[in-house]
Amino acid sequence: MCGIVGYAGQRPCEEILVRSLKNLEYRGYDSAGIAVFEGDRLKTVKAQGSIDNGLVPKLEQVGQLSAVAGIGHTRWATHGEPSDINAHPIGNARVSIVHNGIIENYRRLKEFLISKGYSFESQTDTETVAKLLDYNYKGDPLEAVTATIAELEGAYSLSIIFREHKNKIYAVRKESPLIVGTGKGEMFIASDMTAILEYTREYYLPEAGEIAEVDKDGVTFYDVHGNVLEKELNTAEWDVTAAQKGGFEHFMLKEIHEQPAALKNTLTPRIVDGMPSFEECGLTDEMLRNYKNVFIVGCGSAMHAGMVGKYVIEEIARTPVIVDIASEFQYRNPLITKDDLLVIISQSGETADTLSALKLGKRIGADTLAAVNVAGSSIDREAKMSVKTLAGPEISVCSTKAYMVQCAFMYMFALRLAYARGTITADKCREYTAKLLETPQLIQECIDRKEQYQRVAANIMNAESLLYIGRGLDYALSMEGSLKLKEISYIHSESYAGGELKHGTISLIEDGMPVIAVATQTSLYPKTASNVEQVKSRGAKVVLVCRDSAEVGAEAADFLVRLPDTDDLLMPLVAVVPLQMMAYYTALDRECSIDKPRNLAKSVTVE
Ligand code: G6P
Repeated sequence: MCGIVGYAGQRPCEEILVRSLKNLEYRGYDSAGIAVFEGDRLKTVKAQGSIDNGLVPKLEQVGQLSAVAGIGHTRWATHGEPSDINAHPIGNARVSIVHNGIIENYRRLKEFLISKGYSFESQTDTETVAKLLDYNYKGDPLEAVTATIAELEGAYSLSIIFREHKNKIYAVRKESPLIVGTGKGEMFIASDMTAILEYTREYYLPEAGEIAEVDKDGVTFYDVHGNVLEKELNTAEWDVTAAQKGGFEHFMLKEIHEQPAALKNTLTPRIVDGMPSFEECGLTDEMLRNYKNVFIVGCGSAMHAGMVGKYVIEEIARTPVIVDIASEFQYRNPLITKDDLLVIISQSGETADTLSALKLGKRIGADTLAAVNVAGSSIDREAKMSVKTLAGPEISVCSTKAYMVQCAFMYMFALRLAYARGTITADKCREYTAKLLETPQLIQECIDRKEQYQRVAANIMNAESLLYIGRGLDYALSMEGSLKLKEISYIHSESYAGGELKHGTISLIEDGMPVIAVATQTSLYPKTASNVEQVKSRGAKVVLVCRDSAEVGAEAADFLVRLPDTDDLLMPLVAVVPLQMMAYYTALDRECSIDKPRNLAKSVTVE
């Protein structure tokens, strides 16, 4: 949610800033801009629209810049509509900033600054920070930054340049992400590593409240009192090809194809003696035996992976699981205690609501276990125990491979919990684990059956609205299927527990309305089949997603989508692939912006 970059080096910075921003466009893409040290001035170029349609043509009009240091931003609007004026960088002739996050007390600060004679032209909260920096600047940039952040409330990361301190960049973060990358004779600032992977893999992670002073020769870190800090250099494990499309038309399609490998990478290192083990992060069998309840909290697809986890854990570990949406959990005074385990799921490790939920759990004294895809992210660092899902960078806003590995984590967790609690034997645990390790191959088979998804897509692409139905694990999975379709194809859809339809929602069914019935759970199949009959007899066009082995005649549905078989419990890992691919091809047929759907951002660092 908003991407920040900075560069200080010896090469012309314009191209580097724009390239880095493009790598961050999944964080927001309603406007973009850069500010650089050009001669003895700060030169700002910014425009509404995507980088290619807004900023790049404007830079072409401006002509070649010679600057070797500057900052850049790609925006997901929070305060003020997408427009040239509200685009970042924001500032004046002396100071310019880019900002990710929300300044909660900006109104009060704005009033104060107006009383000091400042006037405002944008509708952003960011402008108050720029003006406050200007107000606090008396010649020493570090003093201006420390005085300013002392006044700010909210979550933010900022990159700041002062005209009088040529080719230096100041950066600071509180909760919103920020890294400082190091190269040879050049330094980088970015919201995350994918932005600068083509230039460097070495980076520092500033903690909340730490200030980085960056120039081409290196970085110095300060605390809020201006004391110099020593920090450790990290090396990213991702390589640059992981963040490129590699011949696929969209990142989403590439990431769908990466799922077998992502799953294998996530599972294999955690299997010890034939069963999952979490000793690496300090989670012992004794701890697992003692937790009273398990809470699972996340947002979007991460929360949906938690729903799969709930069904699996309750089934095999017979332990109560409460799954919650992070934005609800933190404000509803949840009944979590110090005897419970709070499992936090997040791809980015930066989602503001999820991070707040984690902090709440910690304050209450619950143990916290995170599953994150980005090592060194806020949630990774904040949780007592953390497991890294190894999907590699996920660029498409619409999550696919990250959801897959989050589910994989949930299976491993459920199996170990069940074994530790004695609800399954060691042999049974090993048997499930062996089957889990076979799923990458089944997922590959699913991916290869793309014609069946394309056929369905061609038939639902003109729908105004549709329903997903399922029972048990199929219901948990339907939630994810419905989210995929609506976020990238803009067709309204809802997921419903099959048995609940008749209590209201069936009134929506009319002639030709598509219903996607997910029916992979053997014992529930007859029940879902009855629900399918109910909607068919009211005119629905039914797509039935079922196993290869299901004895279903062609007349059972308008379209059959077949899946390779595995254990009921593991079917969600396989069955999510058709749901992802039907959404993908539908959005493709509708000519939607698949990797960057309207109004969305990948990493949501505001509440
Ligand atoms: C955004 C993304 C979703 C994602 C959710 C949670 O809404 O568009 O795809 O599931 O955030 O993100 P996280 O990084 O915490 O998994």
